[in-house]
Amino acid sequence: MKKIASICCIGAGYVGGPTMSVIANKCPHIKVTVVDINEKRIKQWNQDDVSKLPVYESGLPEIVKETRGRNLFFSTAIDEAIDEADMIFISVNTPTKTYGKGKGLAADLKYIELCARNIARVAKTDKIVVEKSTLPVRTAEAIKSILHNTGNHVNFEILSNPEFLAEGTAIDDLLDADRVLIGGDDTPSGKEAKNLLSSIYENWLPKERILQTNVWSSELSKLVANAFLAQRVSSINSISALCEKTDANIDEVANAIGYDSRIGPKFLKSSVGFGGSCFQKDILNLVYIAKTFGLNEVADYWEQVIIMNNYQKTRFSDHMISTMFNTVAGKKIVFYGWAFKKDTNDTRESAAIHVADLLMEEQANIVVYDPQVSEERIYMDMDYLGTRSEAENRNLLTVTSDYMEATKDAHAIAILTEWDEFKTYDWAQIHKNMLKPAFVFDGRRILDTKHMKDLGFDFYKIGES
Ligand code: UDX
Ligand code: UDX
Ligand code: ADP
Repeated sequence: MKKIASICCIGAGYVGGPTMSVIANKCPHIKVTVVDINEKRIKQWNQDDVSKLPVYESGLPEIVKETRGRNLFFSTAIDEAIDEADMIFISVNTPTKTYGKGKGLAADLKYIELCARNIARVAKTDKIVVEKSTLPVRTAEAIKSILHNTGNHVNFEILSNPEFLAEGTAIDDLLDADRVLIGGDDTPSGKEAKNLLSSIYENWLPKERILQTNVWSSELSKLVANAFLAQRVSSINSISALCEKTDANIDEVANAIGYDSRIGPKFLKSSVGFGGSCFQKDILNLVYIAKTFGLNEVADYWEQVIIMNNYQKTRFSDHMISTMFNTVAGKKIVFYGWAFKKDTNDTRESAAIHVADLLMEEQANIVVYDPQVSEERIYMDMDYLGTRSEAENRNLLTVTSDYMEATKDAHAIAILTEWDEFKTYDWAQIHKNMLKPAFVFDGRRILDTKHMKDLGFDFYKIGES
């Protein structure tokens, strides 16, 4: 079997950056080059101060510091890196389409297609092309078709190697993966390519955790894994609404059902709604694929997971409005947290965006504090919605780096991300700062109900009456 000496990864984002850093770190004999069309991003990956990498991820700065310049490189020289590589990972973004057929449902494959055409144009030697982005089933087929029809008569093997890392724990998830999935053809050259990719992961993972399947099973498993995880969150969130109407407590219910080994305790934390770049996009993809095959009941079943998630976000903001005497116009409401979960600076599909949008429709004044998300990012998120003009967004929403100062004369605080630091704040002082009644709406269930009520807050926690 030939050996892989050089890897290129197209796309230096939340997936490509951490994954390649770990591969380079664990495989010192392989040269790993991560390329991107975004010059600013590459510059950020190359800057001396590793605490300012474009992706905030625990453990990543240390790995980059140790490996960068040794066998890990970040570059904008895409063609050179493709030319040199034996194996090319495609790890570019695949957002949901915002135009044309499949708008709002299907994945936009234009970035993937551009990559495939780039590889076809440049490659002069045989390559293994690995799809790393989350893609609809049969994308490998499309990549194959582009490569085989426009290439320079070199042999391309296409593999699907979906990513299962969760942001915030990406490095641990990569170093100690539950499993690695490799899909490819069952031809002799397909099997050889799968084994070559497997041998890379075997540098740090036991072989039993590396599963080989056909391409379609691999592509579909990724969508289904995320759909199942999101479904658990929507299921528990649906019950949180019921708990609020009764005397049941959502954590007690989650704990009780999680003890059943067939159910298990993970992913049962009720929240203001799931976010992130994958869950919604992957479910929409699944829905689109099911509809394409005429499986309308299957499509409706999974779509309900998203409907429930939207309901949870709307329910949260509606509750805020009704509790605050049915009007939030002109009222200062502080948001603690903007990221879609703690320990990441990623905000894609974050519940905070939608809750802010709904409150701003009611003319509330939002002040956002998040320990990792930049002001620029927050305004980009709001502007992207297109609900109102950029000027109106800046008029109704401001961003602060002083979480305490923000609470002065505030009517309410809403917790949208479960950052640990929120639990350690001087809530007695915060209560003093606020107008009375001082409302706190805990969308992440991180604060103690009795303690908050004893301090005098008018306190609401999702999933509790
Ligand atoms: C997810 C998958 O976990 C990962 O395997 C895949 O590769 C990418 O998508 P990620 O989106 O990074 O990872 O984070 P995850 O931890 O899954 O959380 C997703 C969302 O669900 C977050 O908004 C989180 O706050 C929410 N969530 C998660 C809950 O509300 N409750 C839970 O119990 C778990
Ligand atoms: C169920 C619960 O498991 C049990 O905890 C509760 O007290 C009573 O209801 P039961 O109905 O006896 O128990 O059997 P169970 O093993 O849960 O199976 C229920 C149905 O689901 C069966 O028809 C079974 O064939 C089906 N099933 C179960 C599947 O089709 N696939 C599975 O993976 C599991
Ligand atoms: P993910 O979460 O999937 O990693 P990101 O948006 O964080 O998504 O990263 C994807 C990266 O891919 C971006 O930095 C983007 O600039 C890059 N990219 C997109 N298309 C191309 C392309 N044709 N060539 C090189 N890089 C690309």
